[in-house]
Amino acid sequence: MNALSDNAIEILRENDRGTYTVPTKGLYPFQWNWDSCLTALGQRHFDEARAWTEIETLMAHQWPCGMVPHIVFHKPDDGYFPGPDVWATGRPVPTSGITQPAVAGFALRRLFDLAKDRTAAETRVRALLPKVAAWHRWFFATRDPAGEGLVAIVHPWESGRDNSIDWDEAFDRVPTEGVSPYTRRDTQHANPAHRPTKEQYDRYLWLVEHFRSLNWETSRLHDASPFRVVDPGFNGILLRACADLADLADHLGEVEIAAENRHFADRGLAALEGLWSDKDGQYLCKDRVTGTLVQSQSIGGLLAAFAAIPQDRAARIAQTIDSHATRFRVASHLPSDPRFDAKRYWRGPVWLVVNYMVADGLARAGQADAADAITASSLDLIRESGFAEYYDPNTGEPLGGGRFTWTAAMVLEFLSMER
Ligand code: DGY
Repeated sequence: MNALSDNAIEILRENDRGTYTVPTKGLYPFQWNWDSCLTALGQRHFDEARAWTEIETLMAHQWPCGMVPHIVFHKPDDGYFPGPDVWATGRPVPTSGITQPAVAGFALRRLFDLAKDRTAAETRVRALLPKVAAWHRWFFATRDPAGEGLVAIVHPWESGRDNSIDWDEAFDRVPTEGVSPYTRRDTQHANPAHRPTKEQYDRYLWLVEHFRSLNWETSRLHDASPFRVVDPGFNGILLRACADLADLADHLGEVEIAAENRHFADRGLAALEGLWSDKDGQYLCKDRVTGTLVQSQSIGGLLAAFAAIPQDRAARIAQTIDSHATRFRVASHLPSDPRFDAKRYWRGPVWLVVNYMVADGLARAGQADAADAITASSLDLIRESGFAEYYDPNTGEPLGGGRFTWTAAMVLEFLSMER
């Protein structure tokens, strides 16, 4: 153990609430979906049993329709907005009513493959497998009603990349009239200049209130939302999770789950080709309302490499990342774009979770040097700036929340991957 891993473990323990882990104290006092799945990958390095529990707790709050919500409000905490009263989803333990990137299938496979306690791993993965399979089924049924092979998000929060430049145009269609008055809490915990704007918050809230007026019937939200975007990063994660779940299911003799998820993965990978931009050397989002590609070179189009994209595409993505030429990689938006903002959340800063998934995908596609460069840069960043939520890619300045859970989890993963 070195000092870095000791610090990472200390942060994971400090944010552990027993059966779930908060992303950070103050700013995010509940359980977040993709945070938790990636957190489990960190926990496995020092407490395998606890890692399984993290994902079990999340999946215990799955909706009957199959959706796994993006936040589980385990205990009241008025330090966060919008809380359970705003969502009003009517769940026994309150949750939000939208979802988040489907990392669970990938996390399950990684936990299972690397587990030391094989018996426990098999028992626990067997119970989780059908739940994750139901989530994947829900995604394609409700978010790909025309069977295109890729799913749309209906709220920027679903992508996890809340204020990405990717959403700007589509978000303009979301009205702000009639949103109930509210007080933001995030800007009391973090520098407002590093967070989404008030105008964006009005639109986030308008969508929540609109979906609430539809009684959170998840099968209605896609067609009812003025915001429907096919994000290559979000889909890359889902397609990787489908392929991983299919492998796991094969191993466990669950042939139907295996066939279904293999089909989702293959069909989705073929459809992803329609989002490739040769000019930009990466994938782009598609606005499903207008049917057009969104001219915005964000990390979403690089993160697609987490799925089994063609090798020549992965090689181009590695070049695109090199061309960013920032001191730390990977910037969450193309630095030469005038809209790039080095400090504002997902409009430029570096995030360790996406670094991890991009590096993993590139390594699998034969881009070992590119993957190593991301791993080394990520660890350099932590050594220089500590365990923040995100970082300025040019100066390395730590931004957003501090002592951040998933950053710590990713450090443990990166340390184990360092060559
Ligand atoms: C937030 O509150 O900033 C979250 O990203 C929404 O899930």
